[in-house]
Amino acid sequence: MSFDVDDIITQATTEDLARLVCGDGTWHTSGIERLGVPRVRMADGPHGLRVELGASLGESAPATCFPPAVGLASSWNPALLKRVGQALGREASAQGVDVVLGPGVNIKRSPLCGRNFEYFSEDPLLAGTLASALAYGLQAEGVGACVKHFAANNQETDRMRVDVQVSERALREIYLPAFEKVVLSAHPWMVMCSYNRLNGTLVSQDPWLLTDVLRGDWDYDGVVVSDWGAVFDRVEALVAGLDLEMPHVLGNSDVEVAEVVEAGQLSREVLELGAARVLALTERAVDAVRPGHAADPAAHHQLAREAAQESMVLLANDGVLPLAPRAKIALVGEFARTPRFQGGGSSRVNATRVDRLVDTLAARRRVRFAPGFLLSGKADDALVDEAVAAAEASDVVVACLGLPDSEETEGLDRTHLRLPEVQLALLAELAAVGKPIVVVLSNGSAVEVAPWLDQANALIEGWLAGQAGGLALADVLGGDVEPSGRLAETIAVRLGDHPSALMFPGEPGRVVYGEGVFVGYRGFDAADREVAFPFGFGLGYTTFSYDRLVVKVTGTPASRDLRVAVQVTVTNTGDRAGCEVVQVYVGNAPATVPRPPRELRGFSKVRLEPGESRVVSLPLDARAFSFWSEAQGRWVVESGLFTIEAGPNSRDLPLAQELKLDVPARRVPLHVESTIAEWMADTEAWEALMARLPEGARIELPEEVLAVVGGQPLRRFAKFPDMPITAADVDAVLASHG
Ligand code: BGC
Repeated sequence: MSFDVDDIITQATTEDLARLVCGDGTWHTSGIERLGVPRVRMADGPHGLRVELGASLGESAPATCFPPAVGLASSWNPALLKRVGQALGREASAQGVDVVLGPGVNIKRSPLCGRNFEYFSEDPLLAGTLASALAYGLQAEGVGACVKHFAANNQETDRMRVDVQVSERALREIYLPAFEKVVLSAHPWMVMCSYNRLNGTLVSQDPWLLTDVLRGDWDYDGVVVSDWGAVFDRVEALVAGLDLEMPHVLGNSDVEVAEVVEAGQLSREVLELGAARVLALTERAVDAVRPGHAADPAAHHQLAREAAQESMVLLANDGVLPLAPRAKIALVGEFARTPRFQGGGSSRVNATRVDRLVDTLAARRRVRFAPGFLLSGKADDALVDEAVAAAEASDVVVACLGLPDSEETEGLDRTHLRLPEVQLALLAELAAVGKPIVVVLSNGSAVEVAPWLDQANALIEGWLAGQAGGLALADVLGGDVEPSGRLAETIAVRLGDHPSALMFPGEPGRVVYGEGVFVGYRGFDAADREVAFPFGFGLGYTTFSYDRLVVKVTGTPASRDLRVAVQVTVTNTGDRAGCEVVQVYVGNAPATVPRPPRELRGFSKVRLEPGESRVVSLPLDARAFSFWSEAQGRWVVESGLFTIEAGPNSRDLPLAQELKLDVPARRVPLHVESTIAEWMADTEAWEALMARLPEGARIELPEEVLAVVGGQPLRRFAKFPDMPITAADVDAVLASHG
């Protein structure tokens, strides 16, 4: 069944159209029964389906809980994300859901953000690539994706009002590209706008973001939906480009919209545009080809297990892992029995089943379990004594530590990065026993590890690993598979080292992103700051070497066809098969704007047998070399030296090559505040100015003088007494050469 959008628009009354842009209840768009337009059903994600059974947040239908984005991102594996997306799509179609509200691609500006577990990375390329794969997989099953929360929603504190003050350059280079990538490569059916303000304007009412950037620059043709409750003024929002307000506000918005249109205060075309997009979405949902095979809980659990294996990041290992087959294991920590596998809030999934390490490990190994601490954080000496006794009677300790549920949830940011005191005290007691300790962490965003790292012989950052995390952990601890994750976020030595530390979460009503583009590793590297574990880092159970960086350039930036083919040879130098994530970074210094020393521009995860080599190709385009010029309002590649580096993580890049790019400088128009140096660089304008001086009276500035005065605006300089030129001369030349 299909319908003709134009036809319906013509037949619809103003009230019909107003209802279309306002939704119905909490999870549906409004249909128009009379005209045969059905409703579209939405449900939360993003790492599992949350189809509410009751009226409010609470009970939901059982669904597979895949690792949340924090875990999936650490896989650095788009093919895996696509499969997870497909599985989500199958579960959604089995439940009659047309659109899943995910993925969430906000940048992890600070590790404190309470929703970081739902987001992918501090790096936009990684976040955008992985989220695109998930959205693509979902839509391949005929179910729409809704990328969220657009944009600059990087904290929970004051999230519905806070004004994010951020430069356009930081937006274009850091906060928007993940959305851009998903929009351009996965064509999501919906984009969800965020709650916050952006440079003074509520995002739900921001025509620059919702129309100029999203529709103009990125050609987006889907529906822009509000985050639930993000709209303040429905009419303003409609004008700005927000097509659908959710949830339905009882008897308010649609009536108001219809009234202003009827009163001639808002043109019917604006309303028709939003309504037509909602109708086009409805048509997509109606026409969607859903393969129809029933969701298979067992197969999806197995996929969740695989995803969890690839999500875990082995941060340290002195050889204690994989565990020796006959080792007696003291399994310590309440998380082994009460796993933390997802975060709190609207993404919470009612898992179809949950594996516990205490069962999965005990099924394969000799295990003695002791909870060691209370999740409430209250000290309990008896639990510590029991854990110490278990350690004494064992060959190795596996200590499951992490953050309690209450610390990581939508609506709340953390205030520090420490693990609970009771857990650190327990770890110290266990260390005193003298047996090797494997620490396994469960947390949705980075925690401080530096103060206690020397007490661990191995450290697995298990993140929040979804419902099969307990199985996957047993797999990696025992060496059945290796943990093949890499860090999608830097682990700092201390919170204060983060580039955003002094400006998170800001003051009531306002947060200034003063670190600009220097987010995450971009900032740590620029400040040359030591980190506990760098972005991109992760070990496996084998080793790799890197050789032969080949860089081939075709095209030019000027002709807009620049392509740089980067090739790296990677070899598995160990004695077991394993995965490596080859990473390529580009830096450009010096440049006319401050640029990060290096930025991730390509990556590829490869699996190699022992001794096997592979040539990995990573194609780069002009964007990989560009920055966003605020002066010119566009992406710019400057002439100069670029460094291309390749290796296993952002701080271990054994291969490097310089690349010189020549780009004819574009003439930047002069204006009343142009400096002396800018004038002198513009030969034509400068000569026109000199021509106004008496014969032989050219202004010549020796280099050392130019170094001092070159940065001053020429027109103001001209106002000083005894200057050879006047402000009127400057204005005259500006009129012809500005
Ligand atoms: C969240 C969204 C979610 C929506 C619907 C909002 O509070 O920010 O991520 O999709 O609620 O539950």
